[in-house]
Amino acid sequence: MAATYHAAMTLPAPHPDRTCLVTGASSGIGKEIARQLASRGLGVTLVARSEDKLRSLADELGSTYGIRAEFVVADLTDEAARAAIATELDSRGLVVNVLVNNAGFSTTGPVHRSDPERELAMVRTDVEAVVHLCSLFVPGMTERRSGAVLNVASTAAFQPLPGQAGYGACKAFVLSYSHALRGELRSQGVTVTALCPGPVDTGFAAAAGLSEEEFAGSVPSFMLVSAKDVAAAGVAGMDANKAVVIPGVGNKVTAAAGWLSPRSLLVPMVAKYHPALGR
Ligand SMILES: NC(=O)c1ccc[n+]([C@@H]2O[C@H](COP(=O)([O-])OP(=O)(O)OC[C@H]3O[C@@H](n4cnc5c(N)ncnc54)[C@H](OP(=O)(O)O)[C@@H]3O)[C@@H](O)[C@H]2O)c1
Repeated sequence: MAATYHAAMTLPAPHPDRTCLVTGASSGIGKEIARQLASRGLGVTLVARSEDKLRSLADELGSTYGIRAEFVVADLTDEAARAAIATELDSRGLVVNVLVNNAGFSTTGPVHRSDPERELAMVRTDVEAVVHLCSLFVPGMTERRSGAVLNVASTAAFQPLPGQAGYGACKAFVLSYSHALRGELRSQGVTVTALCPGPVDTGFAAAAGLSEEEFAGSVPSFMLVSAKDVAAAGVAGMDANKAVVIPGVGNKVTAAAGWLSPRSLLVPMVAKYHPALGR
């Protein structure tokens, strides 16, 4: 299938030496975001730890859409590995003009029973990598006065989340950081969008240590949105220069309720019903 290039409103036009760097592209939402970008004729560079999955997706996207599809294997908890992504792309003659910070995971359970190493790995992946990659790649975008950043937060960004305390705080950071970065870049030709999905059936729940029953039991089915639809909403939102994208009506309502509810009422209620606190 040939790539169809939609007349972009803010997404940069396809160019042989420019690439969309997508982290967490080996699975779930990131894989679908890469697919969406490739289907618009944009070159992609896929980043994650799972080399086989990245290679097979890069092969698929390259042959389906006739675009330049590459991958870089990196553990985003590692500062040196993150810096090496920039060096590697330089050596391949590639310039990042779309940055998608999507890689992330959640721990679950109460902080007093947490594994300190795992908590820190989450902060490094969900927060530190977002900050580091923005600092590495946004300067080139501002110099060229062209670029787009999509940071994947969550509806968990809109309220404290007992049972996933660190994760909710990480995503609140990503949302706040994205708003501020957008403000800084508003007249520099670079857009910033925060994508805030509600529950999506991906590898996420398993990585968070939730069983299928716990995940299904904690999520009303009307709130579930597929990874493909979340990615489509995110890329369309980035193209339309939206500040925040929340896919699904149910998730828009719960995000607004979470944002506006008094903490004294909301927090005890979430603590009472979170599946990882009732074990
Ligand atoms: N699913 C949901 O319900 C949901 C809801 C709201 C927000 N989100 C957010 O959406 C984003 C994508 O999650 P998903 O649902 O698509 O989950 P997923 O299927 O588990 O995908 C997570 C991706 O992140 C990558 N990743 C994790 N740790 C990494 C590390 N240390 N270094 C490099 N890559 C790493 C994984 O690749 P490797 O394992 O190959 O490294 C994988 O590609 C995350 O930021 C998540 O917080 C998810």
